[in-house]
Amino acid sequence: MSTLKTVSSWQQEPKGGPGCDATDLGFARALLAGLTKEHKSVPSRFFYDKRGSELFEEITELPEYYLTRTETAILTENAEAIRKQTPAGSLLVEFGSGSSTKTEILLETLDRLAGYVAIDISPAALDEASQRLRKRFPELPIYTVVGNFSSPMRLPEQFLSVPKLGFFPGSTIGNLERDEAVSLLSNMREILGPGSRLIVGADLKKDREILQRAYDDSEGVTAQFNLNLLARANRELGTDFDLASFKHQAAYNEAEGRMESYLVSTKDQSVRILGQEINFSAGERMHTENSHKYEIEEFHKLCCSAGWAIQNVCTDDDRLFSVHVLQNTA
Ligand code: AVI
Repeated sequence: MSTLKTVSSWQQEPKGGPGCDATDLGFARALLAGLTKEHKSVPSRFFYDKRGSELFEEITELPEYYLTRTETAILTENAEAIRKQTPAGSLLVEFGSGSSTKTEILLETLDRLAGYVAIDISPAALDEASQRLRKRFPELPIYTVVGNFSSPMRLPEQFLSVPKLGFFPGSTIGNLERDEAVSLLSNMREILGPGSRLIVGADLKKDREILQRAYDDSEGVTAQFNLNLLARANRELGTDFDLASFKHQAAYNEAEGRMESYLVSTKDQSVRILGQEINFSAGERMHTENSHKYEIEEFHKLCCSAGWAIQNVCTDDDRLFSVHVLQNTA
């Protein structure tokens, strides 16, 4: 179990020898493990290097990617109601804070917060966001932690008796398998403690045409985002993926209720990873991401399995996206 600290004291020494830090090794091993399976795959968490995070920011501004602007509108419209339900002096804890853009809606509205805790795996994103927020909200105590919130974590002692409000926007929950989502929500409940609340954004099931466009946009930004996985391997691991001979594919899997992303090899080819040759046949695909879509009731069942009670749910008029307020009544 770890206690939250500021970014600088959480930075870790690289392991694994010259020219190869712990992240490289993690990526190299995961890539090799995924590409030697019968059905090739790469974990989607490797999308988010510097370039990948920039491309994701671009995606959020695309006309077809309705998720970000719809969730932002829901939060803006319901900010006053959230303020009324949140005791003054609460601590706001954001899981996977990234650029903390949507957080500003809450920070502008919520009264006299005890502080804002931003948790993310990217030190650069935390640094940039906290600098911006410190300028905009000079009175607000801001705590940053470079960390993975899927494992147990303890909030600092001084906040033990303070009311907590967790924030997990963006439908990031949709990138997890359903059982992983339950474990994560349950870990967040442990971290936030009894009496806490959690605001979580989840994308809704809808017409597959809308989903298809959102995950295969006309400008090809999502394609670049997906292909950046291979570009990242070439940059960081010295692999020789020929980006021109892989193409982006997005498909809705109705049975699983999720968008699936793939990279498809357009020809027979081979690539060397950690000294091992990996063969691709023409038309063979590697799976790179799942983005689960939920019915409201289905999502509520999942939250209840994680021990949360449902306090409220808000959607937009077109029922594209949902924002849920959960309560830890334990
Ligand atoms: C971060 N996550 C919620 C995005 C999603 O919609 O699954 C990542 C993404 N993948 C393709 N477009 C955006």
